[in-house]
Parts: sequence; structure tokens; C-alpha cells
Amino acid sequence: MQNPSQKQWSHSPILAAEITKLLITKPSAVYLDATLGLGGHTAYFTRQLSAGGIIIGLDKDKNAISMAEAKVNDARLKTFNLSYLQAGEALASLGIMGVQGALFDLGLSSYQLDDGARGFSFLNDGPLDMRFDNAKGITADDIVNAWPVSKIEEILLKYGEERAASKIALAIFQARANGRIESTFQLAKIIESVLPRQGKTHPATKTFQALRIAVNDELNTVEAAPKILPNIILAGGRAAFLTFHSTEDRIIKYGLKELTQSGNWQLVNKKVIEPTFEEIKQNPRARSAKLRVIERLK
Ligand SMILES: C[S@@+](CC[C@H](N)C(=O)[O-])C[C@H]1O[C@@H](n2cnc3c(N)ncnc32)[C@H](O)[C@@H]1O
Repeated sequence: MQNPSQKQWSHSPILAAEITKLLITKPSAVYLDATLGLGGHTAYFTRQLSAGGIIIGLDKDKNAISMAEAKVNDARLKTFNLSYLQAGEALASLGIMGVQGALFDLGLSSYQLDDGARGFSFLNDGPLDMRFDNAKGITADDIVNAWPVSKIEEILLKYGEERAASKIALAIFQARANGRIESTFQLAKIIESVLPRQGKTHPATKTFQALRIAVNDELNTVEAAPKILPNIILAGGRAAFLTFHSTEDRIIKYGLKELTQSGNWQLVNKKVIEPTFEEIKQNPRARSAKLRVIERLK
């Protein structure tokens, strides 16, 4: 298995110029990159900051943090291996009351997808892991090999919007009778055996998305994200959310709407911002991205 430090993994930051322009409004202020990843957006942010500016970078993934630190190589970046829901802890440990801007680039990075050892992809063989923080919590292996068939069907429907959920859940259940399902390729094959390929999309796409969301309790975490903004964003500051599937985007849309109802927040862009055709051509992973930005008025 490849050690992350031995290979040059990459991730192209999405809508990077647009996000930087909307978020970095004061060069000497403190900013939060709530999902640091490989530091792609942070590298853009640092170019706009003065010597006094600071970026706090959080990620659940320790490997990603090490790679981001090496890539950004800037003392103004302070990193923490924490969930973004613990952003308040990171700020408090630096004696910082609030930030001028925060980016939540949700989901997983290209590095996590491309590294077979992380188990996120049906295109790269590896163990069924799928944890952002691979030091704790349940894995996809735990779900696939131990959960009741009804619970697997439920997450495929709820998190993957997979219409063949019951067929796939049953196939997984039956395959377990022949021994543990241990690898991403093994699981992909089981799915393909009941759901043949049609068009460009691999039949395992929705199942893998659903498992990843369940493993990382992503939707509950995403739902809680807008609720922490009043504790971390300063008056006049902004938060940007980049989402990658409709369920996630809906949650953010309603979470931000709820904030505006207090009268203390307003949407910066009424219409969602999407990558240009050129960006999608260069980086197909940008195709489903949607950006929403909110500003704290008082
Ligand atoms: C799309 S990537 C970010 C890429 C980054 N913007 C860049 O340009 O390199 C999302 C990152 O968020 C991390 N992540 C997911 N859920 C998280 C959470 N609750 N708290 C902190 N980080 C999280 C993932 O581990 C992943 O590295």
C-alpha cells in the first residue's frame, strides 16, 4: 500500500478565485479553512493576506494536514486535526474570538478518492474504510459486513438516492454468506452483478457515496455546520459553503435561510454560484459543485 508521503497526491481547488474574492475581504484578518484538505484554497487565501493575517486550517484527516502544511509552507497557517464542528476549540486555543471568513468545502478530496488505501473509490482497490479520520469510528467494512440488510437498504436510499437499494442490499447480504467482503473491488463487483453498467456512470457510484456519508455521519455534521457560524464569524464576516450533491446542498440552503431569518445574516449570492464550463472541462470533479455565501450583518 502506498504511503501518502511517498506519492504526490493532488486536489484542484474548486471555484478558488471566486471564493478568495468573496471571502478574503481584509488582508490582515483571521480566516478559517474548515476543510483544509491539501490546502488548495488556503494557498489562494495566503496570497491575499498581509504579514499579520492568519489562516486556521482544520481537517479530520491527519495525512491531508501534513500534505497541506508542506504545500502551503507558510507560518501564517495554523492547523488542527479537528472536525469543523470543533472550530470554536481551535479558535479558543489561539485566543481568537472570531474569524472574518470561513470556507467549508464539503465532502472528500481527490487525494482521498485516488488513494486506494483509503477505500473511498470503486476505481482503486483497497480496504473498505472510507473514514475521513482513519484513526477512529466505524468503517465501510463494518457496515457492509455487519449491518442488517434493512439498514443497508435504508442508507443506500437516504444517502445515495439509489433506486436499486433493495436489490443491492440483498446482493451484499447474500455475498456475506461466502465470507467477508473486504475490498472496494469486491464490493463493486457484487453491485455490478445485480446492476449492470448503463451509460457512463459506474453502477457502484451511489452505493459508495451512501456508505461514505454513513461512515462519516456527514449529513448530520453538515446540518450542524451553519449552526456554529454565530459562534465563530465576526460581524461583517462571511462563510462560504461548497457542496457536491443535491442532499448536501439542500441542507446548506435551508441552514443558511434559517440564519437569515434572525435578521443578523444575509445571503451574499441569492443565486447559487457554479463553476464555469472551462473549469469543469479542466476538472470534471467540479461538475456538481455549488457555492453559497452568507454574511454576518451584526
Ligand atoms: C473537498 S476536500 C477540501 C479540499 C481543499 N479545499 C483543497 O483545496 O485542498 C474536503 C476535506 O474536508 C475534510 N473533512 C470532511 N469532513 C470534515 C469535518 N467534519 N471536519 C473537518 N474536516 C472534514 C476531508 O477530510 C477533506 O480533506
